[in-house]
Amino acid sequence: MSGPASGGGLAGRRVLVLVGGSVAAFKAADVVALLRVGGAEVRCAMTPAATRFLGPLTLRALSGNPVVTDLLTPPERGPGMEHLTLSGWAELQVAVAASANLIARLALGLADDAVTATVLACRAPLLLAPAMETAMWEHPATREHVTTLRNRGAILVGPVAGRLASGREGEGRMAEPAVIVEAAAALLAEGGGAARRGPVG
Ligand SMILES: Cc1cc2nc3c(=O)[nH]c(=O)nc-3n(C[C@H](O)[C@H](O)[C@H](O)COP(=O)(O)O)c2cc1C
Repeated sequence: MSGPASGGGLAGRRVLVLVGGSVAAFKAADVVALLRVGGAEVRCAMTPAATRFLGPLTLRALSGNPVVTDLLTPPERGPGMEHLTLSGWAELQVAVAASANLIARLALGLADDAVTATVLACRAPLLLAPAMETAMWEHPATREHVTTLRNRGAILVGPVAGRLASGREGEGRMAEPAVIVEAAAALLAEGGGAARRGPVG
């Protein structure tokens, strides 16, 4: 069976990794590394909260590209609308360490940071990997937001049951990076990334 490391479905594809402010943000490094091993081009954006859990420099080094973290502080060169640059570039969006807060903001269609503004501007499919405590995952507000995102075409990978950062056991643990990358590769291989659908999240 071909996995992401063998390049199945990933080679030369443009994958945008979006990182939310869950404690699982550190696993974004593995997601990016595995995507690169599979041959994908990778760019990243992080929410301000995500940068408190994982240094952007790590994702810059692993992706080989600058990481967008601040919507309103553009780089010195270029038009300074990085959310539009990223959204126009991506064939597939993969939002990892998707916190309850990020899921709520995406469901509401907010655009108040680099991640949410990029998603709102992007027509590429959205693969979402939530990560949170069981109570947050099971809260009716989160359930409704997830349903909203699914109805718009977002595809969820995980969360799974297991040990959480708090030490508790339950559903809410982010899917393993290899599983997320397999899901991304499968989506791209089946054409999900090539077709630019309507708004997905
Ligand atoms: C140590 C710590 C760990 C956290 N882990 C999570 C988490 O795993 N999932 C989650 O939904 N929120 C978690 N939070 C809360 C989020 O960081 C907070 O809601 C934040 O505003 C989310 O930002 P975002 O919308 O950029 O993702 C955690 C907070 C702290 C202080």
